[in-house]
Amino acid sequence: MSAKPIKSILFVCLGNICRSPLAQGVLHAILAERGKDRDIVLDSAGTGGWHAGEQPDRRSIAVAAEHGVDISGQRARKVLPEDFSRFDLILGMDKANVRDLEALAPPGARDRVGLYLDFATGNARDVPDPYYDGAEAFASVYRMIREASEALAKRLDASASPTSGQASSTM
Ligand code: 4NP
Repeated sequence: MSAKPIKSILFVCLGNICRSPLAQGVLHAILAERGKDRDIVLDSAGTGGWHAGEQPDRRSIAVAAEHGVDISGQRARKVLPEDFSRFDLILGMDKANVRDLEALAPPGARDRVGLYLDFATGNARDVPDPYYDGAEAFASVYRMIREASEALAKRLDASASPTSGQASSTM
């Protein structure tokens, strides 16, 4: 993964209706609270296109709304070839998503692809697909994504000011 400041992130899951819309919406809400939502472009997509054009799953919309995050305006889409040049970072929610992304990525863009929780927290776990499960699975996915988003926001701060430690030591 490159050391350049990260200006855009694409979150990717299988259907783009359960997990990646939450990852996009929760990080956006955290950045907005800090007045930093204009510094970075966020989007999400699916490796599959079955739900293209649809709103997020109503259970994802509901769990986000319970926490004051509105993801109802998002619409699902499939990953596009140009995503690999448009986004600095392309994060798959589970290892199967990452494998699919690596297979789609042009050779020069594979270093933009990573596993979401690994990049955010250093813990190389999957965010499990909740689609065939109940509300508790969505609540659990929400908690994982909330924690990861806080960590990701910190990483983005660090990536935006890579020399801040040096600067403060010279003051
Ligand atoms: P997601 O969940 O990848 O988190 O959006 C899924 C949504 C739909 C399907 C699978 C997973 N599906 O098979 O339609």
